[in-house]
Amino acid sequence: MQTLQNDRYLRALLRQPVDVTPVWMMRQAGRYLPEYKATRAQAGDFMSLCKNAELACEVTLQPLRRFDLDAAILFSDILTIPDAMGLGLYFENGEGPRFERPLTSMSDIQKLGIPDPEVELAYVMNAVRTIRKNLQGSVPLIGFSGSPWTLATYMIEGGSSKAFTKIKKMAFSEPQALHLLLDKLADTVILYLNAQIAAGAQSVMVFDTWGGVLSPRDYRDFSLQYMHKIVDGLTRENDGRKVPVTLFTKNAGMWLEAIAATGCDAVGLDWTIDIADAKSRVGDKVALQGNMDPSMLYAPAARIEQEVQSILSGFGAGPGHVFNLGHGIHLDVPPENAKVFVDAVHRLSAPFHQQ
Ligand code: CP3
Repeated sequence: MQTLQNDRYLRALLRQPVDVTPVWMMRQAGRYLPEYKATRAQAGDFMSLCKNAELACEVTLQPLRRFDLDAAILFSDILTIPDAMGLGLYFENGEGPRFERPLTSMSDIQKLGIPDPEVELAYVMNAVRTIRKNLQGSVPLIGFSGSPWTLATYMIEGGSSKAFTKIKKMAFSEPQALHLLLDKLADTVILYLNAQIAAGAQSVMVFDTWGGVLSPRDYRDFSLQYMHKIVDGLTRENDGRKVPVTLFTKNAGMWLEAIAATGCDAVGLDWTIDIADAKSRVGDKVALQGNMDPSMLYAPAARIEQEVQSILSGFGAGPGHVFNLGHGIHLDVPPENAKVFVDAVHRLSAPFHQQ
């Protein structure tokens, strides 16, 4: 077992004592950093960057050179899975992801195979191994996947969506087709995350960006049920250390108890819930990750620090908090403001961890 110089992120996820609250930022590698834009230009397009282990490693490490972050996250995308299933992922300039062959029917879904992570997604495992080697035990590496429901929205809508009419039409008129797809995706995600863990990911996170567009009953049926299956199927220990699992559903503050009951180690929160409320509801079962509004990073330094202080006070004393934004960092945020945020978390959290 390689010793980690800084393991406070893993400790906090397991609700063990830490010296200061660990912090990382969702989408911490990306276009708000000029050095990211330069490396992406060198790679050509976004998927070529993901498929080049050296360059994917470089952009993973870029935010860690600027900010005192307590974790690195694999540079990749959730849409690698549908791409590996043969849907033909491409990015239209300024329009987000698209698929050449979106799923339209039960027969499309029946034809889908389960990709072998060491074959169709071997480039992701190469990136994980390269990043682990280059981190040299400084901070842990987070692996990730999209949730079955969130992946299915892109696969059926053909790209990003606002009203999710195509997938909801399938959910409510041909539910057995959608369940077959979600089940295949859950099996794929289990193999994919376990392969990332075997390659060196020290913690994994499932992004359910769109679970919050469902009614409570449909959320359990079409999203949470499959995340539960994933939690049950994951390798939870590797190389003598626990591998914590974080589930993040955006807009799911009202369903925290159900998410915590899956057996995950931590629940990601967006900014629409008060972290004190979340802690009183599920803090004895899981760690909490979050939850500053990413738009707060447009504010002056003093306002960012005030917000960090208020979230730290909301969580209060004791372990079990990983500080983060409530969703990905915006692409026009000044990097200096991200530094103010990260430094404030460490400086202002020390009093909450005195024994
Ligand atoms: O957090 C990190 O730094 C690691 C990398 C990461 C990316 N995408 C890189 C990326 C992670 C964890 C993701 C997850 C992801 N991808 C999610 C779930 C999290 C969330 O934000 O809700 C979703 C829904 C996607 C799908 C996706 N990928 C979209 C909608 C887009 C286009 C929008 C955008 O931000 O451009 C992408 C592309 C993408 N993924 C980029 C990056 C850095 C931008 C690509 C570019 O350089 O042009």
